[in-house]
Amino acid sequence: MTTNADIAALRAQAVPRGVPATAPVYVAGARNAIITDVEGREYIDFAAGIGVMNVGHSHPKVVAAAKEQAEQYSHMCFGLFGYESYVKLAEKLNQHAPGDFAKRTFFMNSGAEAVENAVKIARYATGRKAIIAFEDAFHGRTYMTLSLTSQVSPYKVGFGPYASEVYRIPYAYCYRCPLAMSYPSCACACAELLEQAFAKQVNAEEVAAVIAEPVQGEGGFIVPPPEYMGKIKAMCEKHGILLIGDEIQTGMGRTGKWFAMEHWGVAPDIMTTAKALGAGFPISGITGKQEIMDAVHPSGVGTTYGGNPFGTRAGLAVFDIIESEGLLARASVIGERIRARFKEMQKTYPVIGDVRGIGAMAAMELVEDPETKKPAGDFAKAFRTKLYQNGVVNIGAGTYHNVIRILVPLTIEDETLARGLDIMEETMSQVSTI
Ligand SMILES: Cc1ncc(COP(=O)(O)O)c(C=O)c1O
Repeated sequence: MTTNADIAALRAQAVPRGVPATAPVYVAGARNAIITDVEGREYIDFAAGIGVMNVGHSHPKVVAAAKEQAEQYSHMCFGLFGYESYVKLAEKLNQHAPGDFAKRTFFMNSGAEAVENAVKIARYATGRKAIIAFEDAFHGRTYMTLSLTSQVSPYKVGFGPYASEVYRIPYAYCYRCPLAMSYPSCACACAELLEQAFAKQVNAEEVAAVIAEPVQGEGGFIVPPPEYMGKIKAMCEKHGILLIGDEIQTGMGRTGKWFAMEHWGVAPDIMTTAKALGAGFPISGITGKQEIMDAVHPSGVGTTYGGNPFGTRAGLAVFDIIESEGLLARASVIGERIRARFKEMQKTYPVIGDVRGIGAMAAMELVEDPETKKPAGDFAKAFRTKLYQNGVVNIGAGTYHNVIRILVPLTIEDETLARGLDIMEETMSQVSTI
């Protein structure tokens, strides 16, 4: 039998250290919310491949679509020879994306590529160059997207220089309010920082787009107040600026709606999707207002693999599964259950400074002291390591690496979810006594 240690030893010889390695375990198989390693040990999946496996691992409908596709053809390059599943998935996204207007969609392979293309289109359609992003934002690791990404370590350290014409304002991070105010008495004053940026940083008439995650993901599951995104959108409209909604982590039912912008009643001009769209088959989408998307000349955008038939078939299966299994409602139930449990734990463990999230995005922010809110990054690391050892696959988040975020498959069974939460509580008690 090949052991985890065997593969880890080979990895050390074959893979550079810059590639993340959270735990020394290697997968043999996965079904729904259970992952089995090469030594036969089972883990509960509280990470879903970073929000990719919303419909669970190896869902029969996704497996059937992929098998059938493999028998038919595996690659064409949509630009050379088209196929129906690409067009149908584009239509699905156009129908489900927020906004009562005509839309168009095309596909890439990864989230970063979707964001790259959204920026290209926004610049092309507006004839403007500047892009405004947010503090604590994450948009990817290619050069443009890394320029838009906020977090310095580990993403940006040593990789500069970055793209020009990127400006940044604080996000509505209420737990660490950039204006040291509290909601709702603040009246969401932080949204005005966008207008201030037009005076202090960049002429509004030179701004092509503001790019925003409707709920920040890597930043630590930061949920803005309900009116925040609407205010940002209104300011964009006033100045002829496009709003790019990055739904790569929040989309495809994760927050209890198809797309998280729906919670805020906001229809972005361009929306990016990836992750859960393909249930593990690499695909990302760029969906936008018809006149913006059609501004680009023929062959102005494209790629070899973008919207490959495995991704588009899987995407259609994902839409079907979310609809037929009622996963939007399920996402809300799951999220409430997790947050309720975390709030209970918070009574015993003051290290849990904040419990937050929306739908099945749930997180706890760990602090050394609830008053000072000093980030407990070391504690979070110890907790996450122990959690792996105790059998729960997990991911961190947050600029200060002190957030534990939960992204379970939306198909997780009640019993598995409860067991995972029990293990989290048990782990908290173990680590707290260290
Ligand atoms: C909001 C958001 N945008 C973009 C990306 C980049 O996606 P990818 O890793 O597929 O390039 C991510 C990935 O975590 C993300 O969460």
